[in-house]
Amino acid sequence: MKITVVGAGAVGATTADNIVRKELAEEVVLLDIKEGLAEGKAQDMSQTAALLGFDSKIIGVTNDYAQTAGSAVAVITSGIPRKPGMTREELIGTNANIVRNVAENLLKHSPEVILVVVSNPMDTMTYLALKATGLPKHRIIGMGGTLDSSRFRYQLSLRLGASPADLNAIVIGGHGDTTMIPLIKHATWNSVPVTQFLSAEEQQQIVADTMVGGATLTKLIGTSAWYAPGASSAAVVESIIRDQKKLFTASVYLEGEYGQHDINLGVPVVLGKTGWERILDLPLDEEEKAAFAKSADAVRNMNNVLKEIGAL
Ligand code: 2OP
Repeated sequence: MKITVVGAGAVGATTADNIVRKELAEEVVLLDIKEGLAEGKAQDMSQTAALLGFDSKIIGVTNDYAQTAGSAVAVITSGIPRKPGMTREELIGTNANIVRNVAENLLKHSPEVILVVVSNPMDTMTYLALKATGLPKHRIIGMGGTLDSSRFRYQLSLRLGASPADLNAIVIGGHGDTTMIPLIKHATWNSVPVTQFLSAEEQQQIVADTMVGGATLTKLIGTSAWYAPGASSAAVVESIIRDQKKLFTASVYLEGEYGQHDINLGVPVVLGKTGWERILDLPLDEEEKAAFAKSADAVRNMNNVLKEIGAL
């Protein structure tokens, strides 16, 4: 079994690191266009095997897609990250062509691959990968909602003084500062609604802090975050590879679900060995439905840019 991670920047390398530590495949291939970068990071990770006790092999390659042949899952992290003050959406022009090329190259060597897209703007890049490759929709998964949901659980854990692992909470909609929808009314602390423990102001603050979770880190670090994005990507890969049937929010192609068509947007899905296996139909109230429709409009506008710049 082989897993490929494309892009040996901070997010890609952290994803690969989590994947080898979890021993999700015998072989992990880390690929980058920058000469020596993936080779160096792969060697560095390999030198932790004796200490951490994993047997997965990790190799780094410079743009050599032949080495990725036969991958069961490939994670696409390529493209430029955000700088402070930038939105994920501003990356579209640069990242669209990169993601398209990467997806096409992966498919040439791994016709059965399941693609996990991390590059931003993530919903639009996932849509692009789907349209450019013509892959069955179940094999294209955008990662953002898994990350946003983990950040939501973190914010809730701070306010509640609770373990994040005891919190069940999801974010749906687009992976953007203004398009994501943390579903606080559905969130529970070991099955008790969190709204029972939080004032209306506290709930609003948690939602607001979750929405700017990535932007807050970009401001602090000077570039976009990587530990939680890497761990989230590896968790998505793990549910697929081990057929765990975990429920994660992922950006998937909607054909009528949640009232939307011809768009990739974050909804709760079951992830297993065939990719995303089914969409969970959450009973949203009118306010949540309106927020989802608004989020879809914003992502659709972004998808239209793909045509304007000739990427689709
Ligand atoms: C983030 O939210 C990289 O989009 C990613 O940190």
